[in-house]
Amino acid sequence: MNTNTPLTTPLAAVPRPPGPPSPWWGLPLLRALSRDYLGFVQRLQHAHGDITFMRIGPECAYDVLSPDGVRAVLVEQADHFIRWERGIEVFAQVFGQGLLTTEGEQWKRQHRLLRPGFAPRRVAGYAALMVDAARQALDDAVPPGQASARVEVDALMTRLTMDVILRTLFGSRARDEAREAGEAVQVLGRQAMREMFLPLTLPDWLPLPGKAGKRRALRTLRGLVDRHIDARLNAAVADPATVPTDDLLAMMLAARDDEAGAPDGTGAGSGLSRAELHDQSMVIFQAGHETSATALLWWSRLMAEHPEIARRARDEVDQVLAGRDPTPADLPRLDWLGATLKEAMRLYPPVPALMSRRAVKEAQVGPWRIPAGSLVRLTPWVLHHDPRWFPEPEVFRPERFTADAPPLPRGAWLPFGTGPRVCIGQHFAMLEMTLIAAMLLQRYTLAVPPGDDTRPAAELNVTLRPKGGLRLAFTRR
Ligand code: HEM
Repeated sequence: MNTNTPLTTPLAAVPRPPGPPSPWWGLPLLRALSRDYLGFVQRLQHAHGDITFMRIGPECAYDVLSPDGVRAVLVEQADHFIRWERGIEVFAQVFGQGLLTTEGEQWKRQHRLLRPGFAPRRVAGYAALMVDAARQALDDAVPPGQASARVEVDALMTRLTMDVILRTLFGSRARDEAREAGEAVQVLGRQAMREMFLPLTLPDWLPLPGKAGKRRALRTLRGLVDRHIDARLNAAVADPATVPTDDLLAMMLAARDDEAGAPDGTGAGSGLSRAELHDQSMVIFQAGHETSATALLWWSRLMAEHPEIARRARDEVDQVLAGRDPTPADLPRLDWLGATLKEAMRLYPPVPALMSRRAVKEAQVGPWRIPAGSLVRLTPWVLHHDPRWFPEPEVFRPERFTADAPPLPRGAWLPFGTGPRVCIGQHFAMLEMTLIAAMLLQRYTLAVPPGDDTRPAAELNVTLRPKGGLRLAFTRR
């Protein structure tokens, strides 16, 4: 079917949930969304409830803002929806046809091939690489001979998680490469946000604002991924004994589809093509570091602001690890530390707005029919700040997530999304963040530097970044 068709049922015949008026074809609504997406959607919920409707140009858009509603869309009727074409178009320019941007049979096949590499047991095998990267970055955070330093936490976490993903994806330890790629990722994120709100992407060669930077950033990232894949493929021919077998690229090279053959030849026994390897690497590389960096940097700020919560986490770390490096087996005993990370991702979900969905079949959300062709927006930020699920939602309270906490309504906490398109890297991310957080607390006490008392504002740049960066005082223990 043509998924661009706004509605297949006559508009007048469909009862709609409440929502704001849409004068001028909804242009003022679009402008408000692009200025302050999260605040706008939160105000919509306050004014109109858990499911709202608005028209923007030819689009009929619904915001679904309750845990049950989110699960109806992402879990129970997941096959009634695809991801919003415009978002996919913008992301596909960077990621090509990778797991994040594909749908239907192509996505299913890629998911079957990649899923085993992200299973908890497999992911545990990357812990030593994560710990090595963390040791290096954290030991360097305060210059030798100094007792404390003012640290740019944003830059530190981005470099560190970039280093982790380069090591686990390609076995690479080149820190210059990590720096260069970090800048490219920031440029692409900012440009993607700009283009997302335009009806189409003008060609990148045009002399328009942001285009030259985008071209350079894309060249950098594609070049980096190509260099690693080529080096691996060449090494496999020249001297197979030297080829790493334990990183994500090795996993992708070895992956074989064991499902029945498809008419296009991508069936039983087939693996990922060279182009697919490239695109998957781009997705994993990008999706796999900035999100974790974002979670860790907000966590650091919250820990600095709440010394008693941080002390409890540090005591737990000291007691469980007794000075040694953490391993995956320690995670169940680092319950409070894990809860601080989950609570930080509640207050600051790294992906605060999921990619909108397009209904390809009529769906039902609560009492409302959502006709095929409609657009559905899902905004974890709003659910995470809803006092019905999280009393006093602005308060940092890790007790909400400890093992003995009362269960939350399913669908109320979704930093990783939910349903079939849930983040494939969630176990990877939880392991990586817990290891890094534990090692940070082993080394340093965090404090808000004088003059930085106001927490930085959160800025939506695909992920949720602190406006103006984030600085903290690190003091050696
Ligand atoms: C704190 C860290 C992370 C957060 C908060 C996060 C969050 C998310 C979210 C919200 C989605 C989209 C769900 C949707 O649209 O319904 C997603 C998808 C994805 N994430 Fe993550 N992610 C994190 C870390 C990672 C890591 C470490 C990797 C890989 C190493 C990764 C790889 C992916 C991929 C490949 C997808 C696309 C999955 C698909 O469409 O099937 N993510 N992530």
